[in-house]
Amino acid sequence: MRIGIFDSGNGGLSVLHEAYHILPNQEYVYYADTKHVPYGIKTKEEIRDFCDEIVSFLIDKKVDAIVIACNTATAVAAGFLREKYDLPILAMEPAVKPAVERLTGDEKRVLVMATPVTIREEKLENLLKRVDQKHKVDLLEMPGLVTFAENEEYDSDNVKAYLKKRFAGIDGNDYSSIVMGCTHFNYFKPLYKEVLGENITCIDGNNGTIRHLADVLNLDTNSSSNMALELNEPQDIVVRYKTTYYDSGDEITDNKRLSKILRMLTRLEYVRSF
Ligand code: DGL
Repeated sequence: MRIGIFDSGNGGLSVLHEAYHILPNQEYVYYADTKHVPYGIKTKEEIRDFCDEIVSFLIDKKVDAIVIACNTATAVAAGFLREKYDLPILAMEPAVKPAVERLTGDEKRVLVMATPVTIREEKLENLLKRVDQKHKVDLLEMPGLVTFAENEEYDSDNVKAYLKKRFAGIDGNDYSSIVMGCTHFNYFKPLYKEVLGENITCIDGNNGTIRHLADVLNLDTNSSSNMALELNEPQDIVVRYKTTYYDSGDEITDNKRLSKILRMLTRLEYVRSF
């Protein structure tokens, strides 16, 4: 099958990367809307229009299903897109449920990080009403990490200073886990542990989303999905993982831009175990 995956930028590569592990035999079309990133500080109308354009672009590329690899786009556009288009459209939302389910006693809490739009939207409020009846979840906006990720700045002094500032007043010992409520945040998993303490667990929804996709499309999943990916040459990712990449509608074929994607996938391979 041919699967379309999109995000405001390269955060959704974390979802594609998980798909390479779990569904390595499918074909992929990845669309990064780098012309409009970041979405998390834009208006709902703007984000909805961008997503509408991307979905119709992906449908032109003959995809069988689409994954919205962006919590922000999901929050404001998933309902609208599903109503408008016929094919399966899967969406991401912060993995709050598994995080709350892991809580054993009363003493620890869950910290959900997301973009300002995701935090403001009703979708997250409704999710919390459903799964956080004991009010164990705290929310934290982290808009700055999106740009750091796009610039491949994962553990510079600037990133560390930003995280320290955003986590000021937060004691890592009070939390059992930290939820990646934005796909761009996956790149920084080692840093959260550095700042909040090694005992905190990082939770993302990528594995659950791809397994759900496999169910919806009735696809067999890879039984050795933890094997390291083959990420050697820029062209490997196009050929070996049968993926066409687009930068806001422009197909990426040059080695310079493919090398950036390769480096980002390599980073995701490294942070997968954190
Ligand atoms: N990666 C996106 C998310 O999951 C959006 C980040 C942004 O563009 O602000 O929310």
